[in-house]
Amino acid sequence: MTTQIGLFGFGVVGQGLYEILAQKNGTAPGRITRICVRDRAKPRSLPPGKFTFNPEDIFSDPDISHIVEATDRPDDAFGIVRRGLLMGKTVVSANKKMLAERLPELLHLQRASGSRLLYEASAGGSIPIFRNLEQFYRHDQVRGIRGVLNGSTNFMLSRMTDEGLAFPEVLALAQQSGFAESDPTLDVDAHDPAYKLVLLIYQAFGKILAPESVLRLGIRHISAEDVGFAAQHSRKIRLLATAEPAPEGKIRAHILPAMVPPRDPFFNLHDEYNGIQIQTFFTENQMLTGKGAGSLPTGFAVLSDLNASLRQEFAPVRLLAATAPTQNHLQHEVVIYWRCPDPGRRGLLTFQEILEETPLESGFRVVGRIGLDALAAAAGELGESRSFVATM
Ligand SMILES: NC(=O)c1ccc[n+]([C@@H]2O[C@H](COP(=O)([O-])OP(=O)(O)OC[C@H]3O[C@@H](n4cnc5c(N)ncnc54)[C@H](OP(=O)(O)O)[C@@H]3O)[C@@H](O)[C@H]2O)c1
Repeated sequence: MTTQIGLFGFGVVGQGLYEILAQKNGTAPGRITRICVRDRAKPRSLPPGKFTFNPEDIFSDPDISHIVEATDRPDDAFGIVRRGLLMGKTVVSANKKMLAERLPELLHLQRASGSRLLYEASAGGSIPIFRNLEQFYRHDQVRGIRGVLNGSTNFMLSRMTDEGLAFPEVLALAQQSGFAESDPTLDVDAHDPAYKLVLLIYQAFGKILAPESVLRLGIRHISAEDVGFAAQHSRKIRLLATAEPAPEGKIRAHILPAMVPPRDPFFNLHDEYNGIQIQTFFTENQMLTGKGAGSLPTGFAVLSDLNASLRQEFAPVRLLAATAPTQNHLQHEVVIYWRCPDPGRRGLLTFQEILEETPLESGFRVVGRIGLDALAAAAGELGESRSFVATM
């Protein structure tokens, strides 16, 4: 019998999944029986009978064994996932913000209900990262993860480097192209990749890190001067997520702009592409790249979860490894480039070693070695001072 799927949300992701299942013309692992949406006035591309505005039409249908949660509101999404799990259904979600913020509750719910939650589309879009961490690397030991996890900022950084465009122009271009959120804060202030990194950390290291504890500095105040400085040193700027095990069972996790040299695999990762580099004990370094967003790529990642569920191709190992939340260990030094337009803010950062300090027409520039904990302590004021920081 064909598996029946209840879909919540018919936007970019939900429509992508629907289209893929329709193209497969019955050969796919299931079919969407009912679609629950929110806005009664919105025109739809399918007959009205396909839609409902009452979630209970899906939850209480005994023939629907799988629920896909592809809505955009984290609180609603949590309610849908929670109810689905408690009703004994397998649930697939793409909502990284909700998943990262509610991870401990979701793990508890899975244990209590015996139901399964899968979320391949939530990080890296079409890159099969969770499945690989669960299966391919199951008997290996992950030593570190680096990733470009936000397609819109990678698109913006690529266009600034390759076409010499200014930040407001590339932001507008990213929004027109459908890559950036209409409220760009999640992208340019690096919140979106922080949620994704929390999910990757759980899968790779079996550790739970609260999203707010991930050190993040975004690209909101980047200028042509910063891109030019990177180019003078044969480097390109990328927004890099990093996670690795740290002493005392902690994790070191941060999202920071980085000036990467040509030998770095992220140097050639362009436009809206995402990339994830996994360093393991046996395989050393491996890199996966792919579209991090978009209707069909993310719809396909959701389909892969449905497939995995039906074939029982997931490992409960990582679920059982869940522990109490761990801490972000930031007692670690890095070399950074810091440009600040306000000379009065020079005292904001204390460096262990200054490699270069240059007054600029407006403000100053420092290159030096500094603790990640010092950066974290000054993160708010760095934003207020319109500074741009990148590791080197
Ligand atoms: N877009 C991407 O490329 C991408 C990639 C990876 C992950 N994601 C994640 O996937 C999720 C969906 O993203 P999206 O881009 O598809 O969003 P979207 O295009 O904005 O669509 C959101 C859909 O959710 C529906 N919805 C909102 N609240 C609802 C509720 N309470 N009950 C039922 N339906 C509800 C909306 O209904 P109406 O149609 O009635 O307004 C709409 O159909 C988000 O969490 C996003 O972060 C997106």
